[in-house]
Amino acid sequence: MAAVPTKTSLADIYPEDAVESQTTRWNHLISTFKSTYGKAPDFISRSPGRVNIIGEHIDYSLYEVLPMAVTADVLLAVSIHPQEPGPSTISLTNINPQKFESKQFDIPDTGDVHIDASALEWTNYFKSGLVGATDLLRKKRKDFKQSVGMDILADGTVPSGGGLSSSAAFVCASALAVMKANGEHDVDKKALVELAIVSERAVGVNSGGMDQSASVFPLQGQALYVSFVPQLSARNVSFPQLSSPLVFVIAQSFVAADKHTTGPVCYNLRVVECTLAALVLAKIFGLSPLKSDAGPLGYSLRGFHDTYIAKHASITDNSKTSKEDFQSQLHDLVGKVDAYLPQEEGYTRQQMSEILGIPIPQLEKDFMTKFPVRAERFKLRQRALHVFSEAIRVLRFMDLLSSPPATTPEATETLLKDLGALLNETQDSCRDVYECSCPELDELCTLARKAGAYGSRLTGAGWGGCSVHLVPEGKVDAVKEAWRTEYYMKHFPHMSEEKWKEAVVVSKPGSGSCVFEVKGESV
Ligand code: ATP
Ligand code: GLA
Ligand code: MG
Repeated sequence: MAAVPTKTSLADIYPEDAVESQTTRWNHLISTFKSTYGKAPDFISRSPGRVNIIGEHIDYSLYEVLPMAVTADVLLAVSIHPQEPGPSTISLTNINPQKFESKQFDIPDTGDVHIDASALEWTNYFKSGLVGATDLLRKKRKDFKQSVGMDILADGTVPSGGGLSSSAAFVCASALAVMKANGEHDVDKKALVELAIVSERAVGVNSGGMDQSASVFPLQGQALYVSFVPQLSARNVSFPQLSSPLVFVIAQSFVAADKHTTGPVCYNLRVVECTLAALVLAKIFGLSPLKSDAGPLGYSLRGFHDTYIAKHASITDNSKTSKEDFQSQLHDLVGKVDAYLPQEEGYTRQQMSEILGIPIPQLEKDFMTKFPVRAERFKLRQRALHVFSEAIRVLRFMDLLSSPPATTPEATETLLKDLGALLNETQDSCRDVYECSCPELDELCTLARKAGAYGSRLTGAGWGGCSVHLVPEGKVDAVKEAWRTEYYMKHFPHMSEEKWKEAVVVSKPGSGSCVFEVKGESV
């Protein structure tokens, strides 16, 4: 069991070049806390945002993904109320009160907190961490009912709605704060991730488990290979030491991707399409009823995949299959989807109901009610093709990272080009097959490639938000300049210097969640 670490120095949290500015920020947080609440915080819980390197929109189909934590994070400064009978009070203030208004609410003595997912409300993200942590504490301690009250000041530097998962950073930091405030000093990383995955869904987006894993697990300087089968697990991955290093540059499109509002036609619809693709494929191949699994709607393409292999190759635990064999299974499945899910135009409810032998009302109740969707046709073919081929790309990317070290400049160049080509393939698939890009993200990718990037793609959910680019160290400035003149100045001619700084970030892999004990007036 690995526990979330308690840190006492910012040098153990941030890369060297960020420590000075972070010290100023943390001290400002502590002094603002004091002027708001009249006392110093007891501790600060911290959880970072993430950038996904490869493996897009496949976590909820339970395939492996490769994100990394970024330096930008959410900090919650917390002071704990003494335990009292009756309701406990949570006061939430934000370092940016214009954008995130102060709120207070009571936790009744039943301990249960209601989240109204229909309201776009920042405090819902705290509440979802609170609900998850309360559930976990109840499981651990028979007599636990209700969290203690707290005064909280939040400070987030992960751009909100920008594709770097400020939401998961917020929920993880919140759940961690609640655990800590209620006396848990060694919070198990995996338990925290699992509760944050489930509880973030209460906010209205039926997301997978990548973001929360990337926020909690990583060690400084390493990316994270996350697996969801046979159970959630994560392995820190070092980048190869090369004569010219791997440089990932993140560029914001500044197209707001509001997953709540667009959920019924974008994100939540994709989860439904992938789930139904799994069920329809299982039916076609005589594998029904498919065993339920950890997919957000109870079934996944990975579940279908493993069941198919169990039947056709008599492999009962496919998670032990070699990477090569697993890749050829995936290639085979791409061929099967091509042949057996031919309808480019999508499948209607009526057609799926006939194939599955499930009446339409039942289909809607089981898969389209908790997270409603709006669609006439469900593109099972395209979604399954993307998922299986993206899962292959993740494995190929991992193969390249672990191949024998490139010792010559030519071999290094080839490796970087091959990695970049995979990122480009992902972007093509996200744009054309999964339909989760947008013209602005496509434009950022095209400009970067023209200016010398090895590979460029959207990162995170897409439909706006962020892009990630593998760029030769010597071409970072050229790529930035191309974006500045041909994207940002064109779309946002009045962009401030501050916004420009936010727009493009060269990112090193950052460290995961931690708790910081505040001893005195500053860090
Ligand atoms: P993506 O999920 O695409 O990676 P994201 O997580 O940033 O991007 P959302 O999932 O829409 O985007 O979550 C954004 C929400 O998280 C905001 O609307 C707000 O409610 C909450 N949030 C993020 N940062 C902060 C912050 N600093 N203070 C308060 N709330 C925040
Ligand atoms: C969002 C979700 C993740 C993942 C990505 C797409 O960030 O929260 O679970 O599905 O989109 O890869
Ligand atoms: Mg999010």
